[in-house]
Amino acid sequence: MLSLKNIYYHPSTAEKPILRDLCLKSNTGKITIIRGASGSGKTTLVEVISGLSGYQKGEITWFNKTLNARQRRWLCGLVFQFPERYFLGLSIAQELRLGHKRLTTDEQISALTKVGLINLDLKKPPESLSGGQQRRLAIAVQLLRSPKVLLLDEPTAGLDWSVRNGIIELLAKLKDKQTILIVTHEPELFRNLNTANYELNHGQLIPE
Ligand SMILES: Nc1ncnc2c1ncn2[C@@H]1O[C@H](COP(=O)(O)OP(=O)(O)OP(=O)(O)O)[C@@H](O)[C@H]1O
Ligand SMILES: [Mg+2]
Repeated sequence: MLSLKNIYYHPSTAEKPILRDLCLKSNTGKITIIRGASGSGKTTLVEVISGLSGYQKGEITWFNKTLNARQRRWLCGLVFQFPERYFLGLSIAQELRLGHKRLTTDEQISALTKVGLINLDLKKPPESLSGGQQRRLAIAVQLLRSPKVLLLDEPTAGLDWSVRNGIIELLAKLKDKQTILIVTHEPELFRNLNTANYELNHGQLIPE
């Protein structure tokens, strides 16, 4: 169980706090879906949870144990809103092998197939893929790590319906093993899954 208690985050460069007294509990079995207006702090929230940003007050625990930022980076896998900004590998194969040096070609293909990427030339750079393919590659990279907590920032944005449905089906399969939290402008896409829905509003999560 991932638990956020009264999280307060006010970066010195921001006029107002972005998160204030934010509480959340998320567990396997039920996907947490967070919507919110542009600029409401959704990306900031997943960055804080995943340990990429700190916070000034509150506590983040995993099964009642408080976690520091390094432990959260280890626990969580974050699929960024714009994953293309963060690719490090010179090829698709290299991107998949980051942190998995011995990954075989069969294992690479199997990871890509899970996210609906087939018949790719693995020697091509990740940047040669379309926006939707890049998002799916970023998901495949995180799936290889099998993080206990999977955070996805706008995973369905800009994807066509068949790819979107493929990703939703994949998340439905993963949800019993991994704690999944999704930030999205399209919460209705997930309505057939078992979800807990919230709106991020003025720095707090409001159950819907
Ligand atoms: N380090 C920072 N310093 C100053 N302002 C920040 C910082 N990080 C985030 N912000 C501001 O906090 C607000 C929330 O940003 P964030 O990117 O989390 O919103 P979002 O809900 O993900 O928006 P979108 O739906 O457009 O992706 C914005 O006004 C942003 O400019
Ligand atoms: Mg965002």
